[in-house]
Amino acid sequence: MERLWNVAVAGATGAVGNQMIRCLEERDFPVKNIRFLASARSVGKTLPYKGKPVAVEELKEDSFNDFEIALFSAGASTSLRFAPLAARAGCVVIDNSSAFRMEPKIPLVVPECNPQRIVAGPGIIANPNCSTIQMVVALKPIHDQVRIKRIIVSTYQAVSGTGQKAIVELRNQIADLAAGKEPEIKVYPYQIAYNCLPHIDVFLENDYTKEEMKMVNETRKILEDDTIRISATTVRVPVFYGHSEAVYIETEKKITPQEVKDLLRTAPGVVVMDDVAKKVYPTALVSEGKDEVFVGRIREDISHEKGIVLWVVSDNIRKGAATNAVQIAEIWTKR
Ligand code: A2P
Repeated sequence: MERLWNVAVAGATGAVGNQMIRCLEERDFPVKNIRFLASARSVGKTLPYKGKPVAVEELKEDSFNDFEIALFSAGASTSLRFAPLAARAGCVVIDNSSAFRMEPKIPLVVPECNPQRIVAGPGIIANPNCSTIQMVVALKPIHDQVRIKRIIVSTYQAVSGTGQKAIVELRNQIADLAAGKEPEIKVYPYQIAYNCLPHIDVFLENDYTKEEMKMVNETRKILEDDTIRISATTVRVPVFYGHSEAVYIETEKKITPQEVKDLLRTAPGVVVMDDVAKKVYPTALVSEGKDEVFVGRIREDISHEKGIVLWVVSDNIRKGAATNAVQIAEIWTKR
């Protein structure tokens, strides 16, 4: 008989936590007991699980006793405090925050790329940054074949990556502007409706943002190749769900666009949508609510003989966060 597991979701009331719950349901994860955790503000709320209401409890130090799996999406400071406690209580913690991703001993996992890093037993496994996940799913098969030497990526990232409050802010700003009112700006430094902000997370000493450096460092860790040179520009755009990325790669051995298409057509988790004569290419709206990484506009770079350009789109809350975490949990249960 299949073993059933006690699963806790920390940050259950948030944008990612909510999708984690939906993913557990949809994928029919073998759940024995489920526990929804959030801040004290959410005590008294219930959230549905498989048609039944489950009370939201306050995340506390003893929340994980008798639980085996903890999915965390309650921000880095909450993870720093509670994830080690959950691991010590015997849980595998799959943490969606940036808190532990670059810790050398902590696996940073995308199941299509490095499932071998998922080991049995309790401990912390880090879920990568959303923009990194979709990029490495598309690039791993190419890297294995012809080795990628350099990546230049520009992103077009949805507001849901900032959390529920940013979804509300974009919706309100659009409504305010339509009503001729001054839009309220709370979450981002500038109006996000009808705008693009080249600023995700904080600026660092090298003038890149932390989000950009996450793409650099996490990609190298997941592909297990510190020699890849990477430069990223990450941009927040007024889209609710789905990150899009223009990815330019330089490879050691030449590969043609047709060979890239053939490789990606059989790659796990990838859907190639590329027929420009028929206007077929992925968009953020196409990716919304789906679990795959969609790739299109695959073409040879006209400025470099070993350059390829791709357009990579995925639902940042699903594959970029919740689905990836639940996939890790599924593999972990089989270890
Ligand atoms: P709450 O709804 O009670 O504030 P999002 O990424 O959409 O902003 O969601 C963040 C999630 O993390 C929410 O579920 C939120 O709960 C939870 N959270 C934030 N801070 C804490 C905290 N200090 N302790 C527990 N949960 C927290």
